[in-house]
Amino acid sequence: MIEIKDLTVKYYRQNEETLALDKLNINIATGEIYTFIGPSGCGKSTFLYVLSGILKDYSGSVKIDGRDVDPKSQRIGLILQNYGLLPWKNVYSNTMLGVKIKNAQRGLDEYGKYLLQKLGIDKLLDRYPKEISGGQQQRVAIARAFMLKPDLLLMDEPFSALDAINREELQELFLNIWKENNVTTVFITHSVDEALYLGSKIVVFSPAPGKILKVLDNPCFQMDNLRSREEYYDMSMHLRQLLNKG
Ligand SMILES: Nc1ncnc2c1ncn2[C@@H]1O[C@H](COP(=O)(O)OP(=O)(O)OP(=O)(O)O)[C@@H](O)[C@H]1O
Ligand SMILES: [Mg+2]
Repeated sequence: MIEIKDLTVKYYRQNEETLALDKLNINIATGEIYTFIGPSGCGKSTFLYVLSGILKDYSGSVKIDGRDVDPKSQRIGLILQNYGLLPWKNVYSNTMLGVKIKNAQRGLDEYGKYLLQKLGIDKLLDRYPKEISGGQQQRVAIARAFMLKPDLLLMDEPFSALDAINREELQELFLNIWKENNVTTVFITHSVDEALYLGSKIVVFSPAPGKILKVLDNPCFQMDNLRSREEYYDMSMHLRQLLNKG
């Protein structure tokens, strides 16, 4: 269980203060996929920075199973919105980064090979980030996060740079991996459809400064032919109303 109480984040820049998160409260249950949806600039990425331990300058409390966030001792897989690849490392080294940090010198195992092949980057291992496309960079970031077999998976619009076919394939890959060990997942998306298909729970953010407007149980989770279902119609209307209302 992740317990977040009164989480507040302010950014300071040239004497200007931006309140990014304002007393945000939420409990995230172990083993569930929470899709987070909200308007641009409402603080979604900021929320992920705090959960991953990148951003430490906050007030309020964030506890993962009763402990402070500590990426060194907790297995946290992170996919940042801008992919977070290191430009001086090739595809192979970028995908292995998390594994190397956790397990000293372990090389690519069968699972790793399966992931690279499924993600379609197994032929690109020698290349550097600037030598591959945006969508391929995104897949390298996904490989790196999954490779770690994390206990907590944090993803910031991980499929946004992919075309529709590739996005659907990777949504299935993600769900298959999730089913194997029910990794607790925070999944940020701009897409109502993606939130409805991938979230066992759906969290709606308010416009800036970010607070949680609503946490919903999702009857549409993993539903085939989503768009032809009554549940889809009801839920997407409800979400759009919440997002418009703010
Ligand atoms: N380093 C920074 N310095 C100052 N302000 C920042 C900084 N990073 C983000 N902000 C501001 O904080 C607010 C929240 O930003 P954040 O990136 O968390 O939003 P977001 O919900 O992820 O948006 P998007 O959907 O566009 O990715 C925005 O107003 C943004 O301009
Ligand atoms: Mg963002």
